[in-house]
Amino acid sequence: MSANNSPRPVAKASVMAIEAYVPGKSAAPGVAKVFKLSSNETPLGPSPAAIAAFRANAEHLAVYPDGAATRLREAIGKRYGLDPSRIICGNGSDDLLGLIAHAFLGAGDEGLYTQHGFLEYPIVTRAAGATPVVAPEKDYQADVDALLAKVSEKTKVVFLANPNNPTGTYLSFAEVKRLHAGLPAHVLLVIDAAYAEYVTRNDYAAGIEPAADSENVLMTRTFSKIYGLANLRLGWAYGPAHVVDAMNRIRGPFNVNGAAIEAGIAALADQAHLDKAVAHNERWLSWLTKEIEKLGVKVTPSVGNFLLLHFPKGEGRDAKAADAFLTSRGYILRAVGGYGLPHCLRLTIGTEEANRGLVVALSEFMGKAGG
Ligand SMILES: Cc1ncc(COP(=O)(O)O)c(C=O)c1O
Repeated sequence: MSANNSPRPVAKASVMAIEAYVPGKSAAPGVAKVFKLSSNETPLGPSPAAIAAFRANAEHLAVYPDGAATRLREAIGKRYGLDPSRIICGNGSDDLLGLIAHAFLGAGDEGLYTQHGFLEYPIVTRAAGATPVVAPEKDYQADVDALLAKVSEKTKVVFLANPNNPTGTYLSFAEVKRLHAGLPAHVLLVIDAAYAEYVTRNDYAAGIEPAADSENVLMTRTFSKIYGLANLRLGWAYGPAHVVDAMNRIRGPFNVNGAAIEAGIAALADQAHLDKAVAHNERWLSWLTKEIEKLGVKVTPSVGNFLLLHFPKGEGRDAKAADAFLTSRGYILRAVGGYGLPHCLRLTIGTEEANRGLVVALSEFMGKAGG
């Protein structure tokens, strides 16, 4: 036994190197009406059928859920034409990202992601004892050549959010295929398609095809965004049998709760609700982009349910001042300094009332700041 004089237990250095994930703010002290536009939640809420299924599950709280989430995997399989045995469900897609890291990354390995990529990637990489490696982006967009240039013998996982949070940009399916083709066979490409349902571009695909046809692509999805079930924590992944098998070995035996399983099945069946959410987003994404740019705030073109706003850098009109001003008016946006974007705020598409009000408040801020 080695001598250890530490007066208390010491967490691993790799864990203490992690900067904990900071969720979006949800309160604006002293403001009567608050619009939370900081967490990419849907303003339409979940399908009423999902709420009814959640309530009905209250009768069964003493009983363990089906640890394999069989009916949910079958429902997802039916909806997308996938083999349910190659689907794994998780406590949010965050849970699945953690399982991937723990199954495929260890000391000496590298997890690769992009410059403004989703912050869970370095967190799960470090938590697994591996090293996060960052590839530069071009115009706030993932750059396939830059990613491939960072791949080494040590690279075990490439995390790609498509579309990406917080930039809202995406890679065309052709570019995703080019990335996949350029990766050595030992590298797992994780396509995180949390916002896939919102994308209406012809050249986009969520990643089902490479996840179906190759040995090294896994696609992750979530019920937190367009399905409006963020509170229940429900995500799923689809990929090669050997990858799903590895993840199944280490997941919590009941990692998805019964309420989430029932609500997820019901939500999947309500296509009309999903269509409504897509239409709402289409309308307000383009309206907000135009109106906000008119105010002199640059907006990165987005295909998700959120926009990245770039504020001028001068004193009094920068992102920090905008954040404080908008919060005082009840509009809570997301500060993204942790993503290397201290001059930006991320805005989630809200209800019509929230969107219109936000533009009024922002024009007041920009007018005031400019005057
Ligand atoms: C790109 C991306 N991936 C994954 C997630 C995690 O979502 P959840 O754990 O709620 O499924 C988010 C949530 O913000 C996200 O933006």
